[in-house]
Amino acid sequence: MTTDTAVRARGLGKVFPSAGGEVIALTDVDLDIAAGEFVSLIGPSGCGKSTLLRLIADLDTATSGELTLAGKTARQARLDQDYGIAFQQAGLLPWRTVAANIALPLELHRWTRARREARVAELAELVGLTDFVGRYPDQLSGGMQQRVAIARALAASPKLLLMDEPFGALDEMTRERLQSELARIAAETGATVVFVTHSIPEAVFLSDRVVVMSPRPGRITDVVDTRPGRARDDLLRESPEYFARVTAVREALHGSPVQRANER
Ligand SMILES: Nc1ncnc2c1ncn2[C@@H]1O[C@H](COP(=O)(O)OP(=O)(O)OP(=O)(O)O)[C@@H](O)[C@H]1O
Ligand SMILES: [Mg+2]
Repeated sequence: MTTDTAVRARGLGKVFPSAGGEVIALTDVDLDIAAGEFVSLIGPSGCGKSTLLRLIADLDTATSGELTLAGKTARQARLDQDYGIAFQQAGLLPWRTVAANIALPLELHRWTRARREARVAELAELVGLTDFVGRYPDQLSGGMQQRVAIARALAASPKLLLMDEPFGALDEMTRERLQSELARIAAETGATVVFVTHSIPEAVFLSDRVVVMSPRPGRITDVVDTRPGRARDDLLRESPEYFARVTAVREALHGSPVQRANER
């Protein structure tokens, strides 16, 4: 294997014991994500998207199969702080200000204070929170907290970003703006992104490939190529090519081409 593979899963499985028997959260997942690739995971609730992301982040361990991140075990990648994480619950430290929350990964990477302050200012600007850097998380709306979590994930410019519905709590306008920002950041930094979403348009806009999953047992049922032949800007959102890919992902998610009324 080469280190050009950012994430490599082979026969990955996760079983949760439960009172009523076992829950097979994931079964037989084979997936290669190339360095610099943007891959979204999409599928109905309970199909194992968060479980897969948590295995990659080493927040949980697989019950079967193999998983490597650029050739390292998930544990080693975590210890080396190889990735940034933004999950649906913002997960901010309530006793730290917005600025201090964003700066957390930079402290772990032992950046100097001056460098940290400059980077925090840049990130706060990026997520539109410049006027709020001195506030505490409980003084912010849910969407604002989420933007802090996104800034924190991006802070150390990690080569790998793991994001679980990071834009779920945002209004549509902010969501589209941050999607465009994320697409730009991913393109500029060459970061690999694994992104969980329930939104087909969001997955298609952002991704090079969309991985479609289905539940009971959670598994990959399809992989749709969604790499656009043009820049990811607002014009892409209105292009025929984009609508065609949204349709392709919809059909993959529904398991078959959607029947037209006159064919029923
Ligand atoms: N800690 C746990 N203990 C027991 N079962 C769990 C645990 N975490 C997840 N599961 C089960 O594993 C399955 C997959 O859960 P997961 O959270 O990965 O789904 P998901 O695709 O992220 O769903 P959603 O779209 O609702 O976030 C579900 O059936 C869930 O109940
Ligand atoms: Mg989930």
